[in-house]
Amino acid sequence: MTLVLQGISRDFGPVRALDDVSLAIGPGECRALYGGNGSGKSTMAKIASGILSAGAGRVLVDDRPLARTSPAEARALGVGITFQELSLIGELTTGENLVLADVPRRFGFLLDRRGADAAAHAALKRVGLAGLRGRRVELLQTGEKYLVELAKALQSHPRYLIIDELTSAMHASEVEIFAGLLAEHLAAGGGALFVSHRLPELRRFCNTISVLRNGKLVFEGALADVADDDLVKWAGGGHRDEMPASRAPLAGEIRVQATGLRPLPGARPINLAFRSGEITGIGGLPDQGQKHIQRLLAGLQPAVAGERVTLSGAALALGDSAAIAAQGISFVSGDRDEMVFARRTIRENMQAPFVAMKGRPMPDDAAILAALDRLNTRHAGIDRPIGGLSGGNQQKILVARCLLLNPQVIVAEDCTKGIDVASRNDVHHLLRELAHVQGAAVIVTSSDDQELAGLCDRVLVLDGGQVIAELSKVEQTLDAQAIVSAYMKQERAA
Ligand SMILES: Nc1ncnc2c1ncn2[C@@H]1O[C@H](COP(=O)(O)OP(=O)(O)O)[C@@H](O)[C@H]1O
Ligand SMILES: [Mg+2]
Repeated sequence: MTLVLQGISRDFGPVRALDDVSLAIGPGECRALYGGNGSGKSTMAKIASGILSAGAGRVLVDDRPLARTSPAEARALGVGITFQELSLIGELTTGENLVLADVPRRFGFLLDRRGADAAAHAALKRVGLAGLRGRRVELLQTGEKYLVELAKALQSHPRYLIIDELTSAMHASEVEIFAGLLAEHLAAGGGALFVSHRLPELRRFCNTISVLRNGKLVFEGALADVADDDLVKWAGGGHRDEMPASRAPLAGEIRVQATGLRPLPGARPINLAFRSGEITGIGGLPDQGQKHIQRLLAGLQPAVAGERVTLSGAALALGDSAAIAAQGISFVSGDRDEMVFARRTIRENMQAPFVAMKGRPMPDDAAILAALDRLNTRHAGIDRPIGGLSGGNQQKILVARCLLLNPQVIVAEDCTKGIDVASRNDVHHLLRELAHVQGAAVIVTSSDDQELAGLCDRVLVLDGGQVIAELSKVEQTLDAQAIVSAYMKQERAA
């Protein structure tokens, strides 16, 4: 009886997320899946549970192949998953979420409403949340949401439980609830794949470990046989002598000065400065406060008490995205649904930010075409709807728009995720030009540490809303290994 993932490969556009990775989980075994940001852990978890298709390789559950990319089929074969990004509907109650998840159904109708309610109650009781059955999920604390996610995964009584970063956002008492349920599951002969960055937790819960780096399996074995230092080193990969030579000019004067920032609720306030002519990356494990900093600077998130930001000495109109754009900060998100008006023309999308900026003339067609040209953007005329273009070309248009705005600061949130390699290079090239030639301060995040190391002049690594490392190309301290080591070491010390 084993869950086997055999020779799994998977590409997202130019990114090889997984390259011929195999692993197996037997009864009573809890296997750790360990690696840096973007190393392929969540992709592996999703392939094991029928959410994503594998480009190559196969999934065998107790010798039966998972023939289709279907979560329902994976569940029927005995695989359950908790999602890093959660799979709950915020507007529904916890009880409703569980009823919706996994009950006998025919022609869309619940066959046994009362039985489903009772099962939902039992599932919530197992995670100690029976009292919250009638509460809407969006009103729960983060840790409680993850417990509901766990209850949902356990509801179908899986033999194999895939747990993707479940405990990272939990309080200690919630981790104990999880620990009890996991022990029960393993004692009953179940298996588990446990994705986490926290070495103390891996040591506590897991007996075996697979380490991914850049989509490749770099170590597989018993956890008791390996030292923490080795794990951090393998996950980080690379060697010091692979450090790219620095060609970045020295950064200029301070453009953005942020004081009293609270990137995470309850965290100690921090001060940050961003300089002209420099690309600064904000790295670290997911959700350590990166989003708050970027969205605050873009005016998309209200300031917390005490937060103050100046742009070239003038106070920034925090919370007012149109005013901030007019002051000279441009925002590019990787979430195209949020940024693009799909049915409007390319021209309208390029002009959109100017509408709210009084006193700034609309760019004319010649300016728009010139900006698109600089990014090698392929299009069949700027009168066409932007929605008809490839993701890479849409993304380039959003970046080309920054050229027209000629901003002092560009805030780019994972802005090359999922686009093809040529487009990615074009975007990188332009961000470098905006910083190094035009003197903008560029502030980026990425779901991929390799990209962050390659693109940035300087990377601030966040943990719990604090800067735990500052790495720099000029000082030859910046590469992907250094980024991963910084946040992994922190987890070990915790
Ligand atoms: N839906 C997606 N579209 C495009 N790229 C993706 C998608 N999901 C993951 N990736 C990319 O695949 C790589 C592996 O991602 P992931 O499996 O989420 O890593 P991890 O969970 O180890 O942080 C990253 O480079 C990431 O940007
Ligand atoms: Mg992940």
